Amino acid sequence: MKRYLPLALILGISLSASAQDKKIEKKIDSVLKLMTLDEKIGQLNQYTGDRDATGPITNNPNKLKDIRDGKLGSMLNVRGAKETREVQEVAMQSRMKIPLIFGLDVIHGYRVTFPIPLAEAASWDLAEIENGARVAARETAASGVHWTFAPMVDIARDPRWGRVMEGAGEDTYLGSKIAFARVKGFQGKGLGNLDAVMACAKHFAAYGAAIAGRDYNAVDMSEHTLWETYLPPFKAAVDAGAATFMNSFNTLNGIPATGSRYLQRDILKGQWKYQGFVVSDWGSIGEMIAHGYAKDKEQAAELAIKAGSDMDMESRSYLPGLAKLVADKKVPIALIDDAVRRVLRKKFELGLFDDPYRFSDVARQEKEINSAENRKASLTMAEKSIVLLKNEKEILPLSKNLKKIAVIGPLGKSEKDMQGFWSIAWEKDNLISLYQGLKNKVGNQTELLYAKGCELADSSKAGFAEAVAVAKQADVVVMAVGEAFDMSGEAKSRANIHIPGVQEDLIKAIQATGKPVVVLVMAGRPLIFNWTADNVSAIMYTWWLGSEAGNAMANVLYGNYNPSGKLPMTFPRDEGQIPLYYNYLSTGRPAKNDKDTRYRSAYLDMPNSPKFAFGYGLSYTTFDYTDLAVSKTQIKPDEKITVSFTLKNTGKYAGEEVVQLYLQDKFASVVRPVKELKDFQKVMLKAGESKTITFTIDKEKLSFYNQQLKWGAEAGDFKLMIGTASNNIKLEKDFTLL
Ligand code: GLC
Repeated sequence: MKRYLPLALILGISLSASAQDKKIEKKIDSVLKLMTLDEKIGQLNQYTGDRDATGPITNNPNKLKDIRDGKLGSMLNVRGAKETREVQEVAMQSRMKIPLIFGLDVIHGYRVTFPIPLAEAASWDLAEIENGARVAARETAASGVHWTFAPMVDIARDPRWGRVMEGAGEDTYLGSKIAFARVKGFQGKGLGNLDAVMACAKHFAAYGAAIAGRDYNAVDMSEHTLWETYLPPFKAAVDAGAATFMNSFNTLNGIPATGSRYLQRDILKGQWKYQGFVVSDWGSIGEMIAHGYAKDKEQAAELAIKAGSDMDMESRSYLPGLAKLVADKKVPIALIDDAVRRVLRKKFELGLFDDPYRFSDVARQEKEINSAENRKASLTMAEKSIVLLKNEKEILPLSKNLKKIAVIGPLGKSEKDMQGFWSIAWEKDNLISLYQGLKNKVGNQTELLYAKGCELADSSKAGFAEAVAVAKQADVVVMAVGEAFDMSGEAKSRANIHIPGVQEDLIKAIQATGKPVVVLVMAGRPLIFNWTADNVSAIMYTWWLGSEAGNAMANVLYGNYNPSGKLPMTFPRDEGQIPLYYNYLSTGRPAKNDKDTRYRSAYLDMPNSPKFAFGYGLSYTTFDYTDLAVSKTQIKPDEKITVSFTLKNTGKYAGEEVVQLYLQDKFASVVRPVKELKDFQKVMLKAGESKTITFTIDKEKLSFYNQQLKWGAEAGDFKLMIGTASNNIKLEKDFTLL
């Protein structure tokens, strides 16, 4: 029985919300009235702390003096209940006593590290992803930090770009759902709660489309692609109530995002009516000089503030530039006031004016940080993020009766690499490597052998002989290869995305022993490993899984958790295919690799198809898709189609399947992709269990941006496809929109 709140209460809640807003606006007015121009500009200025600097440092010995003089509104990279309290105390010595907000890159966990966001995306488990952000928020808030520079919601179709690790992959629908979940996770029941932090949707916008996958490079795309592919996850973040946005380093069609009025004022603050504030990315305001868009810092400051970039992170352009620009009547004070208002609003909402130290509580920090509950959440997320790519000869799951297992490879005992590039507050205690995870699992029941075999990136094969000798003593070999923590991430673009060094040669040498081999690839991006993919019987993609990495891998290897991950990005065969993504447009000439078709859109030297497709991932069990039924095959624009089918677990293990709904609009005023993900469900079934799965198709799912960038659906013929991967469609049906 659905319980309805009494109208009075609903009205009361809504009234109290707007009454609350009105109260805060009055308080902002009263503070604004008392501030000097310099103090206003100070609120738009953000410096980094020196401990965890995350960008090019500008030495500034008198930061504390600047804070005392009211020249700073925020600090990043200051963390800890004690440390933040100390810095806040300095801010309370300023004339206006306006509290600082402390920001930090909590990208995938704070003290307990979670799997990298791209790995979490592979779980397709929105509730789990939201919970991961919730846990990170609790630990972050307990450490005196008010604001995380996450989620990164950049769609990325190019694995040469090292920052793919921070996002949710190539698909707009999945990326939008995950953006929403992460913002909700970080902000919880709302700002002001002591376990909530401000989210920051970044990098606005289209940073993931850097030409040639080279970080910070120019981005050039049609407005249609911008609206269709890259903006929706940001809109999802707005809809989720993201407190802040961060703009991006790149130019977009010749205009630096930081100086883009189109992005920040027309779209974000205009069409989307965004009330939060925009922080620049590290130094990006000043970098408009290097872009060739501003002649000096003063002009950079003018362009940025006019474009809607509210806070200046570490470029030192707003201070002192803005005061002179106002004096010279180049920048109206109203623009400054609007930006300051946005910043002060968040400080009121966080409750910092009531108590500037409310988040800086050592006792609460000790209780929250690294708790067993937080570690359990990280373990669960890690298990769900693992993607089983291959499992022939039923090598997996491993048997508990094995006498000897050899762990071989440069990442077998690594703890630090499992934390990924953007983990900022982990400690060395209790990080679980693959080896340790297996040790925890098998105890003395199975003997664990180990050989590193080779380094991650050098050319020496000196360790191969020892590794082969160790492998020969074992019943099964588990190999740990991939990338070091700093081979993916910011400023970590790679033109060659093969598994680095001689690691794949090591795999070949171990494979030659004839022993059963399981290869675990641990990386921050899709890598290329064609020989391994073709010749090794069991392969898992385990990304970088965080604090509990080894326990998660052991649980999946032994079947305590049946792997359920699906790839959130396409894995190419070769760098020459990039960009390669599943929702491509059809071509006038056949895009197929048969020699008989002379005029074909295909490579002479390799297939068009990827090595592993978007949405692909295996399980220890198998699933059957049958009995597709649709409520109608013709609908009017205001009608819906109910699609149902039977999913059956036809194997011998309970397991989860991510069923994916793809749609194709066969003919339209703007050519549509051959397929687009429009819905998915992650379904747990016991061995032998069947379940009826239902999807609803409505006009929204059929809509797209037309040539005039107007969102809507057009009458015509469509195809619905239900699959276990984008390249493995199980059921399909045509239908028409009238
Ligand atoms: C970095 C990153 C951005 C991060 C910021 C603060 O350069 O681009 O994602 O939030 O600076 O560390």
